Amino acid sequence: MSQEVFQGPGHLTLAMIKPHVYRAGKIGQVISRIEDAGFKILILKSVQLRKEGAEYFYEEHKEKPYFKNLVGTMCSGPVIPMVLMKHGAVEEFRKLLGATHPAEAAEGTLRHDFGEHTNVTNNAVHGSDSNAAAHREIGFFFGRELKLAERVNALDKQQGIL
Ligand code: RTP
Ligand code: MG
Repeated sequence: MSQEVFQGPGHLTLAMIKPHVYRAGKIGQVISRIEDAGFKILILKSVQLRKEGAEYFYEEHKEKPYFKNLVGTMCSGPVIPMVLMKHGAVEEFRKLLGATHPAEAAEGTLRHDFGEHTNVTNNAVHGSDSNAAAHREIGFFFGRELKLAERVNALDKQQGIL
């Protein structure tokens, strides 16, 4: 991921497939739908979140009654975070996600089609809700990779490769 791309506001977002989708064996289908909608997947990985990490990721929700359940659910199995690129990525991906509650999401959205209609916590996929959130969330999951990429770029420049 080049620095220009990373700094381009509005072109990147952080998506995260939730553990129940992994358990249902539907990660591949969700990823296909994301690509079919015109998003480029710049980087992705599988992560087992621990309590502290999930609490930090969702810290803006810490006073909410559903916080503990949300954290527990996100630690119940692997999550698949990924950086998506598209013009207007944050807003475009929120459209693809649909409403927070799968039962209220429109047909054809990821949450309608892959979420549990009786359980808002299992709404299939997370998406950043602003450019600032995307920056923070990409840093949370991929900070190490970004640092490494910067170092490799710097070395390449030093050696005249770039
Ligand atoms: P997300 O952050 O996961 O992309 O979802 P969102 O913006 O549409 O919804 P948000 O309000 O940020 O909520 C974050 C996640 O918390 C769970 N939630 N549970 N009433 C409830 O029990 C409740 N409300 C929200 C959902 O899993 C939601 O994705
Ligand atoms: Mg949110």
